[in-house]
Amino acid sequence: MAEARAQHSNLNLDHALAEAESRFIDGNAASLAAFTHACEGMPGGTTRNVLYYPPFPLNIVRGEGARVWDADGHAYTDWLGDMSAGLFGHSNPEIRAAAEEALAAGLTLGGPNRYEAALAEAVCSRFPAIELVRFTNSGSEGSYMAIATARAVTGRPKVMVMESAYHGGHFTFGRPAAPGGDGGSPLNVPFEFVLGQLNDWPATEAVLAAHGDSLAAVVVEPVMGAGGCLPADPDFLQALRDWTTAHGSLLVFDEVMTSRLAPGGMQGKLGIHPDLTVLGKWIGGGFSFGGFGGRADIMARFDPRRPDALSASGTFNNNVMTMAAGLAGLTRVYTPDRAIEVNARGDRLRDALNAEAAAAEVPFRFTGAGSLIGIHPVAGEVRSPRDTYGRSDQALALYHLAMLEAGHYLARRGYMALNIELTDEDCAALTAATRAFLDRFAPALREAVGS
Ligand SMILES: Cc1ncc(COP(=O)(O)O)c(C=O)c1O
Repeated sequence: MAEARAQHSNLNLDHALAEAESRFIDGNAASLAAFTHACEGMPGGTTRNVLYYPPFPLNIVRGEGARVWDADGHAYTDWLGDMSAGLFGHSNPEIRAAAEEALAAGLTLGGPNRYEAALAEAVCSRFPAIELVRFTNSGSEGSYMAIATARAVTGRPKVMVMESAYHGGHFTFGRPAAPGGDGGSPLNVPFEFVLGQLNDWPATEAVLAAHGDSLAAVVVEPVMGAGGCLPADPDFLQALRDWTTAHGSLLVFDEVMTSRLAPGGMQGKLGIHPDLTVLGKWIGGGFSFGGFGGRADIMARFDPRRPDALSASGTFNNNVMTMAAGLAGLTRVYTPDRAIEVNARGDRLRDALNAEAAAAEVPFRFTGAGSLIGIHPVAGEVRSPRDTYGRSDQALALYHLAMLEAGHYLARRGYMALNIELTDEDCAALTAATRAFLDRFAPALREAVGS
């Protein structure tokens, strides 16, 4: 009987999804043509796997304020915020002016330029655990440098990451296929990884104890981003801080996404200071950016005046567009007050969306912190990646297509990163669209997801 009911609900969801996809295809001929063309030069028509979703992704041609437009001329409220790099929206005048000034003075100057020291100073004064910083071109490079530095300075080989963590293209972990596996991508840097369990200190402590003296670093996001927008409990982070201090491992916070969640990132908000921090995304003002920084005694190893200096070079590490736009963004646009305002809006939106799901009695959970929101069609509480493994991807796909139809642009995987241009009215519109979706599909969603 239960099996028959599940089959029936899948049919309902299958049917609704097939109809939504067919409307999507009919309504987006120019995006389809762009995708078909893109497939001629790039596998799957994309150079960022994360932006692909079936039947094909919308081709985005323009952005302004909090809106983006696709190739077929549809306007969307942008809730994706380019996976959190697009914090500033699309036409911030301060950032534009800074980029134009940098452009006018010439690119690829081949020397220290007038922006990078100021950006470094701004980063160090904003994030309390960063005493010295180095820039890279991406968060992936930043996390590589932080982890490789930890291995170099401790002389130890192993690295703990949380199950299902994402620290960049070459530090990608998913649900382990078999016990003992790390769920890592075959493309990962071949370091020896061991897995912790977010918010499960006894399980994590047991792994730490087993690998004790050979662990160079414990790497954790204070709020897991790609892993589902799952906040780490302060107690869990403090336990990691205490353990690493006691055992000579370095604690690395990956704040590529979470640095936006409070004026001084999550390290500032919680008062828990890692040894090293990884940065990325929005801090480049919308241009390619990454960085790593932390304790002065560790970072000083990169000082080229030292005989034992570690070398970290990269042609574009100080590219003037990023340095100039990043400086304007960090010091003049995303001020501490602005950070508090945007994240409070995100908290109110998450609460409103969860209230809609509760009122409709549909098992949809909206997780996260501040301006980062994850969406999980699952029954029960969501505190760690394992709580999300049973989520209904079909329900999520249907939600995604329904939101696109209603003019709201977000990630297929159930993710939103608010930008500073979004208003309370935009939040009310998304909440209303979500309510309409939940009401319309409630029975099928309840049956498919369980409750
Ligand atoms: C937590 C985290 N670390 C690292 C990265 C990698 O950054 P990038 O995409 O700039 O390489 C990301 C990107 O999504 C991220 O979310």
